[in-house]
Amino acid sequence: MWCWLTVFHLFVLYDFVHCITLTEVRVPKHTIRGHAVKLECHYDMEGEALYSVKWYKDGREFYRFVPRDDPPGSVFPQPGINVDLANSTSEQVILDPLDLSSSGKYRCEVSAEAPSFQTVSDHGEMMVVVLPDKDPHINGGKPRYQIGDPVQVNCTSGRSKPAVHLAWYINDDPADPGLVKRYEPYITGADRLETSVLGLEFRVKPKHFKRGDMKLKCLATISTVYWKVNEESVEGEKMQKAPTLESRRAMDDSRADRVHGMGGFV
Ligand SMILES: *[C@@H]1O[C@H](CO)[C@@H](O)[C@H](O)[C@H]1NC(C)=O
Ligand SMILES: *[C@@H]1O[C@H](CO)[C@@H](O)[C@H](O)[C@H]1NC(C)=O
Repeated sequence: MWCWLTVFHLFVLYDFVHCITLTEVRVPKHTIRGHAVKLECHYDMEGEALYSVKWYKDGREFYRFVPRDDPPGSVFPQPGINVDLANSTSEQVILDPLDLSSSGKYRCEVSAEAPSFQTVSDHGEMMVVVLPDKDPHINGGKPRYQIGDPVQVNCTSGRSKPAVHLAWYINDDPADPGLVKRYEPYITGADRLETSVLGLEFRVKPKHFKRGDMKLKCLATISTVYWKVNEESVEGEKMQKAPTLESRRAMDDSRADRVHGMGGFV
């Protein structure tokens, strides 16, 4: 507001007052513990000279770039902040490595030199994710079922933060919510990571068998950074094939690659 006001008042006398603008503050929403992240702050000085770029986490300054200083970059230590000073500039700051306490609100503030001292700032929230140490696991299943048999299975995730979201599918269709049993995620270890459990309980009906097979699939996700599927295929009793209990992982590797692309830079 101040900026526009000044322009209005001074416009007639001087026409060299310009407004600096932040064009983009890029803070990835989700990053991965142990990885690095690049936070970007792009601005247009509109002819003004840059005085400083300051970065804040949760209101506390941790990095400052002042072109007049030698060296121009300086770091103010705080928990969860490991600045890679050599690779940080007036338009980016690299944090490497990230830990859980790196989660928070990151603000970039850009100021112009005297006499205008114009200052603009913007922010973004970042959450550091701990990926599950194991794929989702299905237990309690029998190799073969007959019509009328009860199915009682659990899907259990690896330890993560935040908790993994689990969902059941029967033959590729989302399981009816009435068949799903929810449990609170439980917390273990000094790092207080969470394990999710989701039950599935129903009685086998003829419609559950597609060409003699019934597929139970458990999908585990954390926002857009993690996506894994575990699938068990069971046979109907009337089929004459040997009993099988398959535990397959579908689309594993291609999806896992996405995980690594999300950290900002690797
Ligand atoms: C960071 O800086 C080091 C040298 O100081 C360099 O070897 C490395 O490649 C840089 N990393 C990035 C991502 O620029
Ligand atoms: C599923 O998990 C819940 C909670 O941990 C447990 O009480 C239940 O016995 C488990 N059921 C099966 C079939 O393993």
